[in-house]
Amino acid sequence: MRPQDIVDYLDVGRTPPTPVSQAWIAAAFCPPELRTEAQKVVLAESDALTDALMKADLVVIGAPMYNFGLPAPLKAWIDNVVRVGVTFGFDRARSDVPYWPMLPTGKRLIILTARGDYGYGPDGRLAHMNLVEAGLKIPLAYIGLYESEVVAVEYDEFSDDRLAASISEAEMSVDALVDQLAMAEYPAT
Ligand SMILES: Cc1cc2nc3c(=O)[nH]c(=O)nc-3n(C[C@H](O)[C@H](O)[C@H](O)COP(=O)(O)O)c2cc1C
Repeated sequence: MRPQDIVDYLDVGRTPPTPVSQAWIAAAFCPPELRTEAQKVVLAESDALTDALMKADLVVIGAPMYNFGLPAPLKAWIDNVVRVGVTFGFDRARSDVPYWPMLPTGKRLIILTARGDYGYGPDGRLAHMNLVEAGLKIPLAYIGLYESEVVAVEYDEFSDDRLAASISEAEMSVDALVDQLAMAEYPAT
């Protein structure tokens, strides 16, 4: 970490974002100037989460694999930050693609993930079942966070030498990433 860096830490395990609801969707898709006070309250948590994401230059997400995908609180975070009119635009009148990303450009995403089994990496035997990386990268790229890197630990459920090797390899990848990021120029926020 550089002296000028500010870390905003969110533990979705301890403070899980509220899953989106019918009321949330109605409020999010209501034009802001027409929202009722009650709808503003419904969106307040999402406002805070999207605001934090807007400000971040670097987004680091720690994600265990649960049943091939994201733990529910992390999915709830994704659903709260993929916000129409805030992090993505939508206009049915556009003839080609009606959606566009609204996050400021230049942000980077780092996914630190762990799984019990092995072979979920690119070209691995279970690559097609890795819904964690797709579940993060696809919606976040949709709102404008295109650049991403993944560091994964595998073999957690085997607790043998392969787990130890996987942890060492991941630690080396993290060290290399930190060195690279420490030199990076970030856009002014
Ligand atoms: C509820 C649950 C579901 C899991 N599902 C999978 C899975 O689908 N595939 C897998 O390889 N490991 C699975 N695991 C193992 C975890 O991904 C693995 O233990 C990981 O290291 C947990 O990360 P954590 O120690 O940060 O919680 C599961 C573990 C739990 C508790």
